[in-house]
Amino acid sequence: MANEMGDKGIKGRLSTNRGTWTTRFGFILAAAGSAVGLGNIWKFPYITGVYGGGAFVLVYLGCVVIVGLPLMIAEFMIGRRAQENPVGAFQRLHRDGSPWQLVGWLGVASGFIILSFYSVIAGWALAYIGKSIIGFAGTAEQIQGQFIDLVGSPGKSVFWHTVFMALCIGIVIGGIQRGIERWSRILMPSLLVILLALMVYGLFYTHGGMQALNFMFKPDFSKLSAEAVLSALGHAFFTLSLGMGAMITYGSYMRREANLVRDAVTISVLDTLIALLAGVAIFSLVFHFGLEPDKGPGLIFMTLPVLFAQTGPIVSVPFFVLLTFAAITSGISLLEVVVS
Ligand code: TRP
Repeated sequence: MANEMGDKGIKGRLSTNRGTWTTRFGFILAAAGSAVGLGNIWKFPYITGVYGGGAFVLVYLGCVVIVGLPLMIAEFMIGRRAQENPVGAFQRLHRDGSPWQLVGWLGVASGFIILSFYSVIAGWALAYIGKSIIGFAGTAEQIQGQFIDLVGSPGKSVFWHTVFMALCIGIVIGGIQRGIERWSRILMPSLLVILLALMVYGLFYTHGGMQALNFMFKPDFSKLSAEAVLSALGHAFFTLSLGMGAMITYGSYMRREANLVRDAVTISVLDTLIALLAGVAIFSLVFHFGLEPDKGPGLIFMTLPVLFAQTGPIVSVPFFVLLTFAAITSGISLLEVVVS
């Protein structure tokens, strides 16, 4: 880590001995690991369902390109320039008397607040790995009741939330290289493989594939409300981990010669691709079983297990393991902002 700091130009400007990413691949994986999370696999499909599909997806894609991508480039630039965490970065770069340095603190506060609900939902995903291994059985009502039972029980929710936080803290303690970068190298590619397999299964082995594609990619603008547009914009920020300094932190570990724009494009494309893959996989299953797509936050926890009862653990275990992977790589990144 420290030997990287010999690079000319950087050394003199650094107040602390910061590590840098060992490779570009490692950096992309780690930043993509932050971006790809519950937002892609849990939130994107459920809000797409709630807001009626195609038109919402189109607006969301527009927001990613027009707002998200430039903002990600900006965050990388601020971080790399300042070589600091978000608070330090704004302190270093703001003019005397300018209130901009508060923005850094705002980022830390939002990170903390996001993590406090993120970890609860990630805890549900962990709990559902266990449930998948045991297997889902019974009527649709009984299976959906399991979720209501989990959400309604503070003890269980707190327990799984704690397990999730412990996992994240353990990894962050490992430090940037042995921690985030190494784990992302293992988790991110596995995630892509499992997701691709689920999508192929959904498209070719269920009867819902065509309907899912139509639902997601055939815009019906009559379903587009102002609220949907606002949600699409908000989701573009959330899913790319923007607006709270996470990408500033990541940029601060970047080397001078890294190509910011190319990296930001790669990360945004990866993030969007994974959300779309997850959407197709999930909606294929939803339509195959004649279920409603607009069930809200419970979509993957209440709707999918009904069909997992028929497919068995072969599909459900990889799915929830994947969801937990994605949540962990984002969770450690949220935690990293607060810790750094
Ligand atoms: N992008 C993450 C997801 O889609 C969630 C997230 C939002 C995040 N803001 C963040 C992750 C900041 C890390 C840092 O699930």
